[in-house]
Amino acid sequence: MSDTEVRVFRGLKDVYFDRSPTTKIDGRAGSLHYWGYSIHELAEHSTFEETAYLLLHGELPTAAALAAFDAKLKAGRDLPGAVIDIIRTIQHAHPMEVLRTAASALGAVDPHVDDKTPDGVLAKGIRLAAQIPAIVAAHHRIRQGLQPVEPRSDLNHAATFLHLLKGEQPSDEAARLMDLDFILHAEHGSNASSFTARVVTGTDANLHAAVTAAIAALSGPAHGGAAEDVMKMAREIGTPDRAAAWIKAKRKAREPIMGFGHRVYRAEDPRARHLREGMLKLSEEMGEPQWAEILKAVEDAMQPYARLGVKVNVDFYSGVIYHLHGIPQDLFVPIFAVGRVPGWTLQVLQQMQSNILIRPLMLYNGPDPRPYVPMAERA
Ligand SMILES: CC(C)(COP(=O)(O)OP(=O)(O)OC[C@H]1O[C@@H](n2cnc3c(N)ncnc32)[C@H](O)[C@@H]1OP(=O)(O)O)[C@@H](O)C(=O)NCCC(=O)NCCS
Repeated sequence: MSDTEVRVFRGLKDVYFDRSPTTKIDGRAGSLHYWGYSIHELAEHSTFEETAYLLLHGELPTAAALAAFDAKLKAGRDLPGAVIDIIRTIQHAHPMEVLRTAASALGAVDPHVDDKTPDGVLAKGIRLAAQIPAIVAAHHRIRQGLQPVEPRSDLNHAATFLHLLKGEQPSDEAARLMDLDFILHAEHGSNASSFTARVVTGTDANLHAAVTAAIAALSGPAHGGAAEDVMKMAREIGTPDRAAAWIKAKRKAREPIMGFGHRVYRAEDPRARHLREGMLKLSEEMGEPQWAEILKAVEDAMQPYARLGVKVNVDFYSGVIYHLHGIPQDLFVPIFAVGRVPGWTLQVLQQMQSNILIRPLMLYNGPDPRPYVPMAERA
């Protein structure tokens, strides 16, 4: 076989590797639907709990089903002592390193880790959705020399996360913006971390192994790391008038601009709109318009690339929102992970339903067969 006989799809770009009834992404139209429901309607009308239920069950919940789902989330927040000990031991590492290690440790101490029945995996997925935010928050407290906070039973998922993180009840607006952020990050088809989760599941490994690997995939700047890098970019740029020259220099060095571009979207990422609105409102409320002004100047400077289909993505505005909420930069990617747990669980469940080893081919382009060279004869 040679390059002329086969087509190589580097990065599996534009390759369909399976079917899924859940997430419909139209990159040209810039639309996203979960089980037929538009992300815009979910962002406007639902909560993270409802969206997570929809993703995992295929239907929006009735009030009773939502209450039962919420009760499972609330019951799942406790972290085993062994996991807290590990977090303490590695508290100085980047929160994504800590999250990946702690997620793996959750599997090591979970008596049901190898339960691969659909109900068992679903139950563990819901528990992970509750435990992942608890890990992020507990680590942040511990590294500041504070004790992890006891979760309250009267707060929803997003408000609980902020409460566990900061030790105080967030305002309704802050909780709603975090809720919106979780909804928008909950699931996104065969993105790199979800594909990783499916590859791990394809070997018949368990949910904790798949989610641990997914967290590792999410940590890279080309995937989840972009929100953190957008904030770094905004700080480096400093004032709106410097944005155009900064972008020009980066592009001259052929570096990508963080928060722009997407493997699938050619139109604007439909999730970005909601975060842009949230970011603008929050900046105004907090009397800190400078970040919004810098992002606007970056968007203007990126206009020539918009014609090529390189437009803002979901990560462009979230960093500034977290920053305005007083959340440190290195927690931005972990927050993405908190939102994405339902998506990873869904992908694992669907992979398990008709499991198959994911093992593509690599076209060999090395030397022809040659005789082994003994050590004494090597140059
Ligand atoms: C997400 C990403 C990895 C997708 O990469 P991809 O699938 O290879 O992108 P595309 O095939 O659409 O790229 C098409 C062209 O646009 C350019 N492009 C893509 N993203 C760009 C960006 N952020 N800044 C500048 N140019 C970009 C590519 O370099 C490519 O140019 P070329 O044809 O001259 O090589 C890439 O857009 C990126 O690195 N973005 C920044 C990181 C980010 O925000 N990630 C979060 C994604 S939700």
